[in-house]
Amino acid sequence: MTPATASELTVDLCDTPKTENAYASPSWWYDLRGFFILKLAYRDSLWRQVFFFDKNISDNHLEVAVGSGTLLRMILFVRQLRRRPIGRIVGIDYAKEMLAGALRTFRRWANIELEQADARALRFADASFDSVNIANALHSIPDPDVALGEAHRVLKVGGRLAVNALLHPRGSWPLRNIAAAIDAWGIRKGILVSPFDGEEISALFRRTGFRIEERRNHGNALYLVARK
Ligand SMILES: C[S@@+](CC[C@H](N)C(=O)[O-])C[C@H]1O[C@@H](n2cnc3c(N)ncnc32)[C@H](O)[C@@H]1O
Repeated sequence: MTPATASELTVDLCDTPKTENAYASPSWWYDLRGFFILKLAYRDSLWRQVFFFDKNISDNHLEVAVGSGTLLRMILFVRQLRRRPIGRIVGIDYAKEMLAGALRTFRRWANIELEQADARALRFADASFDSVNIANALHSIPDPDVALGEAHRVLKVGGRLAVNALLHPRGSWPLRNIAAAIDAWGIRKGILVSPFDGEEISALFRRTGFRIEERRNHGNALYLVARK
């Protein structure tokens, strides 16, 4: 599919395949729902995510599973406030409704290209990007190993990948039980494949060929930065 700049709202998005219908709600509903999931399942903070992912945006950046674009917009807002440069950003997501939200958000941004694509089969040539972020999504992608392999392939040698991943609920009653109930609902609904075990996901990164540079836990989330 031909990439569209965010200003080209008429982009012809192909129909979302059936298995991706879990993300067929309007993007505003996703944002509202996502806030409660962030607080109660991840037990994490939105600002932590903004500052973490902002650090890994280069002049030639790929945002995998960009969703409604709200998180990316907040990151770019902070960059604008700090007068930091914003270069070429390509965002992909396979859910039509999510991408429609991102297209609206970035309609006036000529340097942001958005397209419908599967994170497990990117059309970009090897070594196309200097940085890749996968925010709040690796646990939502079936075959995360394949998606990581694709992120590795399209990164230049020395390029960095930043990911936050949902972990199995930890902590004590009742917070752990609330998180477990939300995870179970997410799996039933199809928006979550499975939370990760921290060691398992780190091993997956290494098997894919990444060198892990940063790894820390916050609530039920694992933050990883890895270099190709
Ligand atoms: C929880 S949302 C996160 C969106 C955004 N990164 C954020 O932090 O707000 C997960 C996103 O992953 C996308 N997604 C899941 N599997 C995907 C795949 N195989 N390829 C591309 N996008 C995928 C969904 O469509 C959804 O927009």
